[in-house]
Amino acid sequence: MWRPDRQDKTPLYQQIANYLEQRISLGELPPGSQLPSERKLAGQLGVNRSTIVQAYENLRASGMIESLAGSGTRVCGHLWGMEPYPNWNRYVEGGILLPNLPFMRRIREASQSGDPFINLANGELAPELSPNEEIIRIMRNQPFHEPLGYGDPQGYVPLRSAIARFLQEQRGIQATDDSILVTSGSQQSLYLITQCLLSPGDAIAIENPSYCYSLPMFQSAGIRLFGLPVNEDGVDPEKIRAFYKQHRIRMVFLNPNFQNPTGTVMSAERKAEVLNCCEQLGIPVVEDDPFSLTSFDDAAPPPIKAIDRNGSVLYIGSLSKVAASGLRIGWMAAPHAVIRRLSDARQQMDFGLSLFPQWIAAHLLESSSLAPHLERLRDSLLLRRDIMAGALHRELGNEVSFELPRGGLNLWCKINNTVKDYRLLNNGINNGVLFIPGSVFGADPGYVRLSYARSSIDDIEAGVDKFAQALRETLSES
Ligand SMILES: Cc1ncc(COP(=O)(O)O)c(C=O)c1O
Repeated sequence: MWRPDRQDKTPLYQQIANYLEQRISLGELPPGSQLPSERKLAGQLGVNRSTIVQAYENLRASGMIESLAGSGTRVCGHLWGMEPYPNWNRYVEGGILLPNLPFMRRIREASQSGDPFINLANGELAPELSPNEEIIRIMRNQPFHEPLGYGDPQGYVPLRSAIARFLQEQRGIQATDDSILVTSGSQQSLYLITQCLLSPGDAIAIENPSYCYSLPMFQSAGIRLFGLPVNEDGVDPEKIRAFYKQHRIRMVFLNPNFQNPTGTVMSAERKAEVLNCCEQLGIPVVEDDPFSLTSFDDAAPPPIKAIDRNGSVLYIGSLSKVAASGLRIGWMAAPHAVIRRLSDARQQMDFGLSLFPQWIAAHLLESSSLAPHLERLRDSLLLRRDIMAGALHRELGNEVSFELPRGGLNLWCKINNTVKDYRLLNNGINNGVLFIPGSVFGADPGYVRLSYARSSIDDIEAGVDKFAQALRETLSES
């Protein structure tokens, strides 16, 4: 992010005014765009508010910006001497992808504001939990001789082979490199399935609550969603049957192991029943399985795909929750017809994924240090989970209740008294902590998802303290 140069002789307010003027002239801040409040911009640029007041005053005097009571400061609607400009607001409201949910946008804005938040909202691994040294070792020691043309949109063949071996060894899934599609993460697998295998108006069943609720992606594609309640055993196959009868659902999306957000694991019997039910109805199951290898028990819970004998399951996974989300490496194991269709779509979308992360991932999956890394990751996540649970018991013993997750990155926390989600989130932000209100996942009000994986280990207790403070303030307001 740009900041004024304190060594420069030009006064800070002038540097800021020049910078904003340049962005306005380049069209990066088109006429009508809202500028941050003086206080907010001062915080972002690390200067006094009076410096921003002076910079804005300067721009107002030159007719570049205007401030109207009640609506803040904007770039002037009609700038003398500027070419006619497109009305970007009209365009940005169009397109096929709906904007993200307001709560998610609010959390993202807060986390990008530069203010020092403890982030219990982000469901990624903290940087120190990734196999950074191994990745550096691969980049330093392995010779890279691959041709850098457009690759195979289905994915780099050595990576597909490594994924097939990994799935066989770690998840008991039979796959060949032909039945694997490399994606830029599970998110892209979900997107491809939605865009290429479903049509507007189709009905699907998803878990309720679920990560998928927070994906406007389904709504953008015109898909009708029906929620399967999640209990400690997972979802009820009878409910799937009922949805099929009533709404002709065409697919069932499940995250059966350490489900996001509840952390529950569908029992092995339930998995077999669900598969059986979907086979009888002739509808596919999308099994989203990013967390299973974080299991704190000796064995990771088995996937539905391991017992799929008829090709009913589209199995998706990724390196995001076990190695590094920034590598953007995911995969799908599915029948050939599906893989061919989705690879063809990749060809239209982006000609497939960049070769570099695929090359790194192929080496990482084959590396002898992967198993010890996973071992260390599980130990660290368990320690973090216990620190968070201990702090919650200590700070909020009577106010909240939760089950200890047996794996995954998140703790699903019920607030015993009634609170308004948006008030709790606001108070959280004011206290310097971020978390995700349960309604984002489709849950009734009164739940939050707290991630123990992303913030530094030292910040977990402090984050819970801040959350406790926010909750107490919210309870006293109602
Ligand atoms: C259940 C679930 N599926 C998919 C994703 C997307 O992950 P990625 O695209 O990084 O693999 C997430 C991310 O949090 C998730 O929780």
